Amino acid sequence: MDPIQEIKTRLDVADVIGEYLPLKAAGSNAWKANCPFHQERTPSFYVSRTRQSWHCFGCDTGGDIISFVEKIEGMEFREALELLAQKAGVELPKFDKEKASQKQRLVEINELAARFFRSVLSTLPQAEVARKYLEKRGVDDLTADLFKIGYAPDTWTALTDALQKRGVTAAELVAAGLSSKRERGEGVYDRFRGRLMFPIMDVHGHVVGFTGRILTDDKKEAKYVNTPETQIYKKSAVLYGLDKAKGAIRQQDLAVIVEGNMDVVSSHQFSVDHVVAASGTALTADQLGLLKRFTKNLAIAFDQDNAGNAATLRGLDLARQQDFNIKIITLPPEAGKDPDEAVRKDPALWKEAIKEAVNIMDWVYRNAFRGRKSDRPEDKKLIVRDVLNEVIRIADAIERDHWIRKLAKDIDASEIAIREVLDQVKGQAKREPREPRTTTAPATVVAEEGTEPTPSEQIADQFVAGLIYREELWRFAHETLAPKLEWFEEPRLQALYTTLVSAYPLDNRPLVANGSPSHSLRPPDGLAPDLAETLNRLAFAADRAFQDMTLDDIKRELKNGARALRDLWKARERRRLEEAMRDAERTGDQQTIAHLATAFRALTDA
Ligand code: UTP
Ligand code: MN
Repeated sequence: MDPIQEIKTRLDVADVIGEYLPLKAAGSNAWKANCPFHQERTPSFYVSRTRQSWHCFGCDTGGDIISFVEKIEGMEFREALELLAQKAGVELPKFDKEKASQKQRLVEINELAARFFRSVLSTLPQAEVARKYLEKRGVDDLTADLFKIGYAPDTWTALTDALQKRGVTAAELVAAGLSSKRERGEGVYDRFRGRLMFPIMDVHGHVVGFTGRILTDDKKEAKYVNTPETQIYKKSAVLYGLDKAKGAIRQQDLAVIVEGNMDVVSSHQFSVDHVVAASGTALTADQLGLLKRFTKNLAIAFDQDNAGNAATLRGLDLARQQDFNIKIITLPPEAGKDPDEAVRKDPALWKEAIKEAVNIMDWVYRNAFRGRKSDRPEDKKLIVRDVLNEVIRIADAIERDHWIRKLAKDIDASEIAIREVLDQVKGQAKREPREPRTTTAPATVVAEEGTEPTPSEQIADQFVAGLIYREELWRFAHETLAPKLEWFEEPRLQALYTTLVSAYPLDNRPLVANGSPSHSLRPPDGLAPDLAETLNRLAFAADRAFQDMTLDDIKRELKNGARALRDLWKARERRRLEEAMRDAERTGDQQTIAHLATAFRALTDA
């Protein structure tokens, strides 16, 4: 058997999900719980053993056992599969086993090193300076423990010696990025010396590298030294703190991005848990890929000394192209230069600033005026350029117009002049393209309200849910109600219905899989993923709507549903015909008018 099928037969969806969430019974072979993927007080997360699937009505997500593990663990498909395979005792075909075990070894060595640095910090006399330093910066023991902060002693081979004693070879130490080869002579020496050590963990919490800070503000030495690129550490592919922040990011559906490691550490100490650091660079595709597993909403905090420059904004281009909703956090002047300083002055300052994050356009607008005089001609020019550089990226004409008018008023210039500059700026942008904004939607950080289904969509959903609830209902609907494809307004539902009609023949072949404990219709083979998702959602909707009803009651519901769908369709048709009629009358096209009139009568009589 295909290993995926094997895993699915051996493991039960309710058992696996039950390990993560307290499940409450909700009918036979069905459970519910508060959804782990969004915040809620009453359960709308359902699990069905008969279908081996799950669905949340609150955030409209669902799927099978694998997609659940992917989501809850923040794993890729392959990782989730491996986790489940292990649980099920199924052997997956190996992929590059050697490389995988090499990487595992490097993680092991980095974790040993983290433990070494940590114990140096907490026990050795020569680490007193580091303990003092942490104390001065207000990092408490719990937080230092959580982040496994340590100290690399100020000698040449402390770590190298300690790890070699534990069987780590010199070559391995170099490969792990912890030691360097001596230029002359044999052997290796420590890369990190006399530094406060912050282990860098991957999204699962494995130590993959370090960043080490000097304990003074000596400008001669690099403030931070990082692990070089290794097989397991790619600076551009990690987000500092994500392993600890991911749960909170998902819960709040928002990731706060800061510049420094200390900003993350301090935020956590004061229970602002949805914070990660991009380590002083633009967000990369890899980092965005990680974040996307947990949220599409970002709030970015730039340090005071960076805020406002064009490079800073360009650092967000990739995120903007990928349709993240982005807001910018501005710390009030009294808060200090970065979130670390703010949260230590007063945690409320930082929390408030996050709450007050604004859209990029608002932020750009505000920044354009900073340090400039709006009545000085030279400053006016700069303000206009800064603002328009952003305005040209707005897709919506009304929104663009809004800013142009506001700008004209605020700097006391004519709109005509501003529009003239706008054309220039546009021309420049074309010559040196900066990707245009791809969405017209205003950036929002609050979770996008799932677009509420219209009443007619709700009726259609409920109707199809009924059709697939029991074989008998499917047959009843086709023999008695004869639903027409046009009744379904939503394209996805139309596509699903079309597929079902061809998959469920109305001869006497059973529509429920042989020996299946489920009464609901089996999903057709090879169903497209988006249709499978819809079918899964409707199956759960059916459980909820129909479980306490008799088949006769459900049939009555279906009959009402069919009538409502037909009436809605007629109303739509009528509107369409009326419009066509108006057009035809305008052009005096008699033949079409006659034709439409016939169609109209037919519709009314139907
Ligand atoms: P900052 O200089 O803002 O550091 O650099 P910080 O985190 O606020 O540190 P403190 O508060 O002075 O202790 C922001 C981030 O840029 C990276 C680090 O990841 C740092 O956290 N960085 C900075 C380096 O990698 N190397 C450097 O030399 C400086
Ligand atoms: Mn700082």
